[in-house]
Amino acid sequence: MISIALDGPAGAGKSTVAKGVAKELGFIYVDTGALYRTVGLKFLREGYDTTLDCDIEAVLKTIEVDIKFIDGAQHVFLNGEDVSDEIRTPDASMMASAVSAKPPVRAFLLEMQRKLARENNVLMDGRDIGTVVLPNATLKFFVTATVEERATRRYKELCEKGMDVKYDDIYKDIETRDYNDSHREIAPLKPAEDSIMFDTTGNTLQESIDILLKMIKDRIN
Ligand code: DC
Repeated sequence: MISIALDGPAGAGKSTVAKGVAKELGFIYVDTGALYRTVGLKFLREGYDTTLDCDIEAVLKTIEVDIKFIDGAQHVFLNGEDVSDEIRTPDASMMASAVSAKPPVRAFLLEMQRKLARENNVLMDGRDIGTVVLPNATLKFFVTATVEERATRRYKELCEKGMDVKYDDIYKDIETRDYNDSHREIAPLKPAEDSIMFDTTGNTLQESIDILLKMIKDRIN
């Protein structure tokens, strides 16, 4: 099986680029952030805030996360309910960042991610795929873009979905999440030593897809 790790900060364009590239390669695209978001959603629904002042292990015991591919698109399920849309709100984003810093949560989702890579050719998008989840991935990329560019993209994406959001809030959310994701003790966001850097600032989506696809094809063929 071929596994390609795609790590990088929130909103760098990983998911849209990876979806396009995975389609061209005939690989499945795994969005691991959606798994953390699904876990975070459960904590939100239980009424906890991002301080997570609770017995995390006990809450995890009440959670079953599933991932299914419907017409090539990934859907995530929380105890059997498709929550693929609900996990995209700003509240769910902040909660995903909070739960993702907790070791029991990372351990809870680890095997599920590895199993997907054992059984499929995958393009796996996350923060610690090349460093922790798939240290032996066939190829590893670290995808970045400036905070301004990432905030603008996320703002447009949420507006297109009809969500009532403010650019400044999104900008601050991204800054906060970058800080949290790169400063947590466990599996912080950082490039694997053997990862290839890819800055998407200023590229159109199609340009990024073409560049990444070429970098992959040059290396796996
Ligand atoms: O990629 P995303 O924005 O949907 O991710 C949501 C949160 O989950 C983000 O704050 C970081 C965290 N995350 C993580 O810690 N490890 C991953 N492999 C993927 C996401």
